[in-house]
Amino acid sequence: MGNTVLLGPPGAGKGTQAERLCAARKLVHLSTGDLLRAAVAAGTDLGVEAKGYMDRGELVPDGLVLRLLDARLAEPGESEGFLLDGFPRNVAQAKALENVLGQGAIEHVVYLQLDDAEILGRLLQRGRPDDKEDVIKNRLSVYRADTEPLVAYYRERELLRPVDGLGTVDEVAGRVLGALAPEDVA
Ligand code: AP5
Ligand code: MG
Repeated sequence: MGNTVLLGPPGAGKGTQAERLCAARKLVHLSTGDLLRAAVAAGTDLGVEAKGYMDRGELVPDGLVLRLLDARLAEPGESEGFLLDGFPRNVAQAKALENVLGQGAIEHVVYLQLDDAEILGRLLQRGRPDDKEDVIKNRLSVYRADTEPLVAYYRERELLRPVDGLGTVDEVAGRVLGALAPEDVA
């Protein structure tokens, strides 16, 4: 199974499902949110610059995110592809990804859907620094404005695999596998 994108609103379960899918398939999990949080924790220049955007629930500028992504994609490793979680986040990032990986290098886009009330409940319970009600609401509106256009973008390219994110982690994981191409579901 080749490069796969996990698309969906904040708190839809992308990270949770990414771990499941990487365990089930030979994919390398690449979460730009995790990479950014690691840069913040390490106090790198990039992390210091990114922190304010993350605390407000805004997107970190594309240039910074692409620097992190390039470094990660260049690391050697044996896998059948990457599972991109939280990237791309806008159309410019989707185009940048095609430049890095090559046209046609994305095999599937799993689109995890969840309603705002459930998202709010899950994230408030988690309590990460950006899981405060006003910040979550901003993350949701940034998602609607900047990220949701990718749904149409990938649908037009016939890569979109919609999945209902409501239910237990196991139920959703089963749906994710079922939504992938039949030849990938052993
Ligand atoms: P990022 O880390 O990507 O956060 P997000 O997209 O807002 O989403 P989350 O990671 O919060 O949720 P998730 O969908 O992974 O769900 P999870 O599995 O954790 O981004 C954070 C910030 O970094 C952004 O705001 C931005 O500033 C910056 N950033 C990142 N990438 C960027 C990019 N490409 N460009 C620019 N800026 C970028 O689940 C959520 C909770 O629900 C967990 O507690 C989990 O245990 C629970 N849960 C999961 N599944 C279930 C279930 N089935 N039932 C009940 N609970 C569940
Ligand atoms: Mg995540």
